[in-house]
Formats: sequence, C-alpha cells, structure tokens
Amino acid sequence: MFKILSNHIIAPEIRKIEIYAPEIAKRAKAGQFVVIRVDERGERIPLTLVDWNPNKGSITLVFQEVGVTTKKLGRVKKGKYILDVIGPLGNPTEVKNYGTIVGVGGGVGNACLLPVMREFKRAGNYTVSMIGARTSELLILEDELSEVSDELYIATDDGSRGYKGFVTDLLKRFLERRRPDLVYAVGPTIMMKVVSSITKPYGVKTIVSLNPIMVDGTGMCGACRVIVGGKLRFACIDGPEFDGHQVNFDALMNRLRMYKEEEELALSLLEKSIKR
Ligand SMILES: Cc1cc2nc3c(=O)[nH]c(=O)nc-3n(C[C@H](O)[C@H](O)[C@H](O)COP(=O)(O)OP(=O)(O)OC[C@H]3O[C@@H](n4cnc5c(N)ncnc54)[C@H](O)[C@@H]3O)c2cc1C
Ligand code: FES
Repeated sequence: MFKILSNHIIAPEIRKIEIYAPEIAKRAKAGQFVVIRVDERGERIPLTLVDWNPNKGSITLVFQEVGVTTKKLGRVKKGKYILDVIGPLGNPTEVKNYGTIVGVGGGVGNACLLPVMREFKRAGNYTVSMIGARTSELLILEDELSEVSDELYIATDDGSRGYKGFVTDLLKRFLERRRPDLVYAVGPTIMMKVVSSITKPYGVKTIVSLNPIMVDGTGMCGACRVIVGGKLRFACIDGPEFDGHQVNFDALMNRLRMYKEEEELALSLLEKSIKR
C-alpha cells in the first residue's frame, strides 16, 4: 500500500498528487513513468514521474481526470492509501548537451515536459519551452517551467493567455527564424503528430513521448504496441520516447479510440455509484 502525502487541484480537473514511494523516488529519472492501481478492483494506468524527492521518499504525479481510474485517484485523500505503484518504468530521457532544445507541451503534457526540460537545462542546454492549453485556466506549471527555461512561450486556443492559437503555430514561427538542435514534444497525440510533421522538412531531430493504452507496463501484455519505422515496438519497454519522424501516429490514434465505448460505460457506472 502506498500513502498519499498530498492531493490537490491545480486546474479544473487536473490534480497534483504526492505519494510516499521511497524505492521509486531513489531510482526515478526524467522521462520515466509509474503504473498505479487505486484498489483491488481497479485498472492499472501509467502516469509520468513529474518530480521525486529521495530524502522525503516521495514522488509527484500530475494527472487529468478523464475516466474511472483518474477520477478514483482524484478522490483519495491525504493520509489514505492506494494499492499499487510500480516503477520507475520506461527508458529515461537521453540527457546530454545538444545545444538548443525546444520543448513543446500541450495540456497535461506540460507536466510531463517539466522534468525533461529541468534535466536538459542542468546538462547545459539552452532551453526554450512552448506550452499550450485550451484556455488560461488549464495552463499548468507555468512558473516551474519558466524556472528551467531560457525562453518560455505560451499559447491558448482561445487567446486568454499568450498567443491565440495552437502551440504548434509557435513552433512553426520559431523554425522560420531559428534552428534548434532538438525538439522534444509531449501532449495529445495529434499535437505530437503535427510537431513531427513541422520539424521533418527542417531535418530537426524530434523526440516524442507516446501515450498508448498500457496495462502491465513491463512488455508482457502487448497493449502499448506502436509502429515506429515500420516495426512493432512496445512503448512501455522500448519507449515511451521515440523518433517522432518514424512514428505511425494514425495507428496510435486508432488504438487509443479502441475502448471508447467501454470507457464511457465504466465512467457512467462510477458517476451513478457516486450519486447514490
Ligand atoms: C507513459 C504514459 C504516461 C502518461 N502520463 C500521464 C500523466 O502524467 N498525466 C495524465 O493525466 N495522463 C498521463 N497518461 C495518460 C493516462 O494514462 C490516461 O489518461 C489514463 O490511463 C486514463 O485512465 P482512466 O481510467 O481515468 O480513463 P479511461 O476511461 O481509460 O479513458 C478516458 C479517456 O481518456 C482517453 N485515454 C485513455 N488512455 C489514454 C492514454 N494512455 N493517453 C491519452 N488518452 C487516454 C480515452 O481515449 C478516453 O477518452 C500517460 C500515458 C502513458 C502511456
Ligand atoms: S503495457 Fe503491456 S506490453 Fe507495454
């Protein structure tokens, strides 16, 4: 059992949670994730390690309440326990001095961008972060990202904060003027697809952190299969980061839609049981 040290809302339907998990906190690296299970009847879901403190023995996750498991996790109060936290899983980000790195985040992906940009900055890179959200209310971790970025650009779909439009528009404009050594993108699959298509003609190396459905997170179940460079790969053990120019994003988007009906049914059952 894993104790919840804190659990609060940081934006509508987005929560930051701190969990006592000393063994994971000791070994965590940027780019890795954990698989959690709230209770014995619950599903396993992957969440990115956003921060960790080996002295305190804690790990920090940021998640959007989109379905049954994330909603259940949101309701576990400080001092209570969840059943499983397995990790750190996945390959850490390859952190080295590339030169100039542009990190592109969208939605809750901005939280996943934070540890990666922090490590890139520590390795001596010039870091440029571009973060986007639907509206200013949903923009998360702006101050934290600002601390690890030499330049920070913001886009909101409705123009309530920063540039009015998509974060990918900011990237397009940037590439017209400057040529980074690496682009790193994490967020909605469609955003990572667009980022990769923008950087390809410029020949800028592009890493994306993929978010397929995962079950065990250890290469056993095949749920997280993705096609990269025409080959079948498992995001949990071969990724979650891949060369964006090689990823078959359409296949990934189709797989993400596969359980839509079941997910909607499970959510409506959870909502009914809460109302009772
Ligand atoms: C390596 C990895 C790291 C992740 N890190 C984070 C994170 O730090 N914070 C966070 O909020 N989410 C993260 N995700 C996505 C997260 O795992 C899903 O949102 C979660 O599994 C949804 O579970 P649920 O039961 O609440 O919702 P479900 O009922 O399973 O799904 C509800 C809705 O979310 C969509 N969805 C389901 N699974 C995913 C997925 N893997 N990616 C995108 N959309 C999905 C469904 O299509 C559906 O529309 C990560 C995914 C991966 C693979
Ligand atoms: S989650 Fe089962 S193989 Fe990757």
